[in-house]
Amino acid sequence: MTDLSALVEPHRVHRSIYVEPDIFAKEMEKIFGGTWVYLAHESQVAEPNDFLTVRLGHRPVILTRDADGQLHGLLNRCAHRAATVCNEECGSAKNFQCSYHGWTYSNRGDLVNVPFADGYPVDFDKSDYGLSQLPSIGTYRGLIFGTLNPDPSSLLDWLGPAAPLIDEFVDRSPTGRIELRNRQRMIYRGNWKLAWDNAGDGMHPTFAHRSFVLHNENQHGGERSLSQFKSNPDDTGMYGEDLGNGHMFVDQRPGLTGSFWETQRPVPGHEWYADRIESEYGDSSADVLEMAPGSMVNLSIFPNLLIKGNHLETIDPISVDETRLCTWVATAEGAPDEVNVMRMRIAEDFPSLGNPDDLELFERCQEGLGVSEVEWVDMSKGLGHPSEQVSAEGVRRGPVTHEGPMRGYIRAWLELMEADTKRVVVDSESVKREVAG
Ligand code: FES
Ligand code: FE
Repeated sequence: MTDLSALVEPHRVHRSIYVEPDIFAKEMEKIFGGTWVYLAHESQVAEPNDFLTVRLGHRPVILTRDADGQLHGLLNRCAHRAATVCNEECGSAKNFQCSYHGWTYSNRGDLVNVPFADGYPVDFDKSDYGLSQLPSIGTYRGLIFGTLNPDPSSLLDWLGPAAPLIDEFVDRSPTGRIELRNRQRMIYRGNWKLAWDNAGDGMHPTFAHRSFVLHNENQHGGERSLSQFKSNPDDTGMYGEDLGNGHMFVDQRPGLTGSFWETQRPVPGHEWYADRIESEYGDSSADVLEMAPGSMVNLSIFPNLLIKGNHLETIDPISVDETRLCTWVATAEGAPDEVNVMRMRIAEDFPSLGNPDDLELFERCQEGLGVSEVEWVDMSKGLGHPSEQVSAEGVRRGPVTHEGPMRGYIRAWLELMEADTKRVVVDSESVKREVAG
């Protein structure tokens, strides 16, 4: 393995971190196996016996809630000959039967039935053949994280300054709880970190999303959200932050010329729903309507969760040059139905019309990164610039077009890649087994 520290300089990174299969394999161990990774939201496994299939990096996982309400992260890998045991996206099930030879597991991961049991060795014991499980699951404000690290930092320490920003996001809901709905899935032919770079990149909307920005202005005038990217975004007060541990924050709110609702681009049903809210809520309707548009922030929880507007997006690395993105809309528990319908309509807007611009550019970057004769990728904008500030908590803030958030996550990436992290899986009967490598 190459000396990884030689691939990261203060202002640039080496192309190999995006194209080398060995480095990708190491990332699956050290990053997606070594630290907290977002799995799902509690609303997706709300009831006893609910399940959801998710990914921990490239690993298929069945997230289950057993009859007692306990969460389990079961590796979706049959103990017999490795087939994935659950092939449904979500549902309710007490047991999972492998479709290859019929071994059946409980939703706690225990092997409960082996067909035609006669013929197995006399010492064959079902309790040795459960589904392996993640040793650690944690939740924060309804967000469920898992890791193969047997001794992770506390989830709250890992989130650090990102935790109060998650609070702000969910507290836009009247009950402080959200529910996830309506998944969209997109795949691009490029490395997963291209999506991560992009999440902290406040410079690209002016160019990458130019047609959307101009279309928006032609249709709705220059005072709607996105217009803040029409010319130099740094003139608006928008900023980006490196929150530490690879987490990033981009705040578009200073660029708005009015409230969220006043600057929201119209969506189908906009006026009809707004009229209903106004007639029902009278003087407080402005506050109610303010819950409908996106949060106007991008909060990225390393290494795989992007909170954008009102939707959550996960980054699932498939291989060094293929990545899947899944987005879900967050509706606000306790908000009027009209607000939540608008949340869903509004969240169709950017993922459908803006994300394809980004995905096209990720694929163009991956193609360019294939040029082995040109080795470095620049991330220098804002480095050492007097406008960059560091808070007492260590949060680095700079104008939105600066690349400080990217440099911050790359520092965290290198630290994790070089850490001496152990991975374990919990085998049957709570026996923890250390994984080699
Ligand atoms: Fe699952 Fe054989 S691979 S029962
Ligand atoms: Fe974008």
